[in-house]
Amino acid sequence: MAATGGPTHLRLYINIDHVATLRQARQADEPDPAAAAAVCAAAGADGITAHLREDRRHIQDADLDALMRATRAPFNLEMALTDEMLAIAERLRPHQVTLVPERRLEVTTEGGLDVTREPARLRDGLARLAAAGIRTSLFIDADPRMIDASASAGAVAIELHTGRYAHAPGGPATLAALAEGARRGRAAALAVHAGHGLTVRNVGPVAAIAEIEELNIGHHIVSRAVFVGLDSAVREMRGAMDLARGD
Ligand code: PXP
Repeated sequence: MAATGGPTHLRLYINIDHVATLRQARQADEPDPAAAAAVCAAAGADGITAHLREDRRHIQDADLDALMRATRAPFNLEMALTDEMLAIAERLRPHQVTLVPERRLEVTTEGGLDVTREPARLRDGLARLAAAGIRTSLFIDADPRMIDASASAGAVAIELHTGRYAHAPGGPATLAALAEGARRGRAAALAVHAGHGLTVRNVGPVAAIAEIEELNIGHHIVSRAVFVGLDSAVREMRGAMDLARGD
């Protein structure tokens, strides 16, 4: 086992949105995402991720403060680049903000952010977040144009969208594109993260890409938690990552 925080340690951030999805299905007060975050942290998660969507379909504004208080694990706020969300991030000052594209009718984030559109607005948004002391990450497809534009815009990190790989893990282009994208990102001095659609079955080849330092995983872990409990679901994922990484 490599020591936590060592140079090769692959961080596991757990997206707890779908704990809130279950709560919102009944407009009730359980299950509580903040309590789930504390369980994840105790089970070895390196950080907690939540997406405050503009339509508030799962995570609510009040959850954010509770999540920041629930654990000392770093908090990664996923959000769209809007004035409303920037103001929330500036007030909250999470460890990290990951900017994601958002469409109201989508079931989940469907693709990476087009960072070549409105570059001045993106640069300004990243600068505002950096001025608030927040680490910045951009959720993008593993496309050389997007990686280079992310570096030009001043992001600290990129999160490579693994959704296409997750849907067709055997597809040679998808894994090769992720590996090549990770190398290109590192060469441009970007920290490289990855996520979307990862499961204990498909995480291995992504976790084995040495340039990737952080994974964001949500739906599968919350789904597994229904059967084995959240603590075990987190540990299963950690185990699959460590196995692939050789830790
Ligand atoms: N990373 C980003 C940017 C996301 O939007 C999501 C989904 O909210 C995830 C990671 C996690 O994806 P999944 O829930 O499929 O593990």
